[in-house]
Amino acid sequence: MLKDIEKVLVSEDELKEINARLGKRITEDFKGKNLLVLGILKGCVFFMTDLVRNIELPLSIDFMSVSSYGSGTESTGRVKITKDIDIDLNGYDVLLVEDILDSGRTLNYVSDILKTRGANSIKIVTLLDKPERRVAPITPDYVGCDVPDEFVVGYGLDYDQKYRNLPYIGQLSRKVYEK
Ligand code: IMP
Ligand code: MG
Repeated sequence: MLKDIEKVLVSEDELKEINARLGKRITEDFKGKNLLVLGILKGCVFFMTDLVRNIELPLSIDFMSVSSYGSGTESTGRVKITKDIDIDLNGYDVLLVEDILDSGRTLNYVSDILKTRGANSIKIVTLLDKPERRVAPITPDYVGCDVPDEFVVGYGLDYDQKYRNLPYIGQLSRKVYEK
């Protein structure tokens, strides 16, 4: 294990189980719908690519990119779309894919914008949730698992753009960011 990682919070095997469980439920819930899986870059990539391969439905994918964090570990509260989607949302049932829900500000902002764009419905799946940190009125429809109020990295999640490639979710050692 990388020395910057305090401990593993969600192992590779647990991630597999989460993706299988969520994929099965989403398959059931979206039967007969026109599903668009919409990932929030960059944190979503590993989760989303594994999740969609567990969804047994014809579906479309797209991505958008928003910035809400600088290089620190606290949300700034300011959210900006830095890459928008390419397609028209009319007629789609959208499933937003997020790596982690923290204050909820990012998803609150994104889902408010998407609501004005004509989608049939908007649902949210997040791999990780820190429910006690919530500030904005956002409740995810599907959650992989809750994590404690610690900074976590891996499987797409970064600290200062690093550690996304770890195959598990790890708790980042405070030594890395408390300097
Ligand atoms: P929110 O707007 O406060 O809900 O922040 C959500 C975004 O902050 C997530 O999409 C992540 O990119 C980032 N974030 C929040 N907590 C963590 C963490 O523990 N590790 C890595 N990124 C995090
Ligand atoms: Mg993110």
